[in-house]
Amino acid sequence: MTPLITARRLLRDLGDWRGSGAAYQALADRIRILLLDGRLSTGSRLPAERELSQMLDVSRTTVAGAYALLRELGFAVSVRGSGTTLALPDGRRGSYQPEEGLAVDFTKATPPAYPGLEAAYREAMDRLPGYFGHPGFDLVGLPELREAISAHFERRGLPTSPEQILVTVGAQHALNLLAGALYTPGDRILVEHPTYPHALDTFTAAGARLLAVPVGPDGWDISEAETLLRRSSPSLAYLMPDFQNPTGSSMPEADREQLSRAASREGTTLIIDETTAGLDIERGPRQPMAAFGSGAVTIGSMGKIAWGGLRIGWIRGPRDLLARVLRRRPSVDLGTPLLEQLTAAALLRQEDALLAFRSRQLRQGRDHLAALLRKELPQWELPRVQGGLSFWLPAGETSTSSLVLAARNEGLGIVAGPRFGIDGAFERYLRLPFCYPQEDLTDAVAMLRRAMMRVGEAPARVPLQAVI
Ligand SMILES: Cc1ncc(COP(=O)(O)O)c(C=O)c1O
Repeated sequence: MTPLITARRLLRDLGDWRGSGAAYQALADRIRILLLDGRLSTGSRLPAERELSQMLDVSRTTVAGAYALLRELGFAVSVRGSGTTLALPDGRRGSYQPEEGLAVDFTKATPPAYPGLEAAYREAMDRLPGYFGHPGFDLVGLPELREAISAHFERRGLPTSPEQILVTVGAQHALNLLAGALYTPGDRILVEHPTYPHALDTFTAAGARLLAVPVGPDGWDISEAETLLRRSSPSLAYLMPDFQNPTGSSMPEADREQLSRAASREGTTLIIDETTAGLDIERGPRQPMAAFGSGAVTIGSMGKIAWGGLRIGWIRGPRDLLARVLRRRPSVDLGTPLLEQLTAAALLRQEDALLAFRSRQLRQGRDHLAALLRKELPQWELPRVQGGLSFWLPAGETSTSSLVLAARNEGLGIVAGPRFGIDGAFERYLRLPFCYPQEDLTDAVAMLRRAMMRVGEAPARVPLQAVI
């Protein structure tokens, strides 16, 4: 059956959609943004025109005009008896969409591969034949990688044995495994706001009711977090204390302690996502959240420090919890590839060099992008970040959903603020990654500047993609 987008849900996701131009066009534009950044899916049915027009308090002609425009651009189709369903322009629904027409793609914040990656793969290739006697289905992780990951925690002052580590196919997989094992339908989950979009996808897909704790350049609203923990007793809280995605903020140690105490009082399990924790430019080490209480489960990844394509991540947690995850894992996947595990182990054995390289590269990118923005878009207030991959920019009066379309017309892929929030929040924020080569950053700012002058003009044709 075709899934229906209810008028109430669309109202919530649309947020503040009205622009200065024609209402039907603004509505169609906003629906396209929701589709292309993954908040609405292809194949789902839009609400009936009359119902949506009542909900939005606009004329039925406005909704009909918006739907007609979507159809004209190829973003919707009318099926007899099924109303109007969302689609992709070239009809390749569900298939891989190459990034056509984008000179620079900043929809992901993912740094280029570490230069030592090829040597690590070669080393792993040399060693792989020694594992050909292994059945190849590795649900737990190779002992040598689990040792390398526990050494990674020990170097950060957190005693960890290999038995506390489960190797996964990246951190997103780890998050899904944890949500599957720990989340009971009906429970609440506390998230930072803004947060990493695919965590929102995971929790929403599980049907979770989300509680939002504000986080910004000045840090976390800890008293709000405590209140939410006390009042609503969420079963899980998902946090990124080190170089939070997208804000780049770092949680002070005192806040870590206070939050850990509050969570353990309420029986809330903290899921600490350390995917971005190795991206320090100039902050210096801080105690990992798991050092403040045994209740925290940590997930991590090689994706940002080494290369996204490696697809190696992990869960660090108590053994009984890992056993629970393991029992469920075969229903999801049958293990982590061995070559990549050997490569990750080789890389972690040189983690200091890897982190130093990444730090230098991120510093260059951050400083270059900051200088460009100060010159070309001086109206935007630049937050100070000591690490991470991106600036989380307050874009003043600009609707970043409109800016996304204008930037596409210039050849720049960016993501609108609401992809990082709940219920259409952050319309006036933009995540701009600085983890890319300087030429790309320079080109991106030139395109962004042109896009800023043309916000709200002709709609672009855009493919669907993941936001990383
Ligand atoms: C905070 C955060 N968690 C998890 C992930 C997913 O990591 P992986 O590529 O290891 O699955 C990302 C990727 O962007 C991320 O930013």
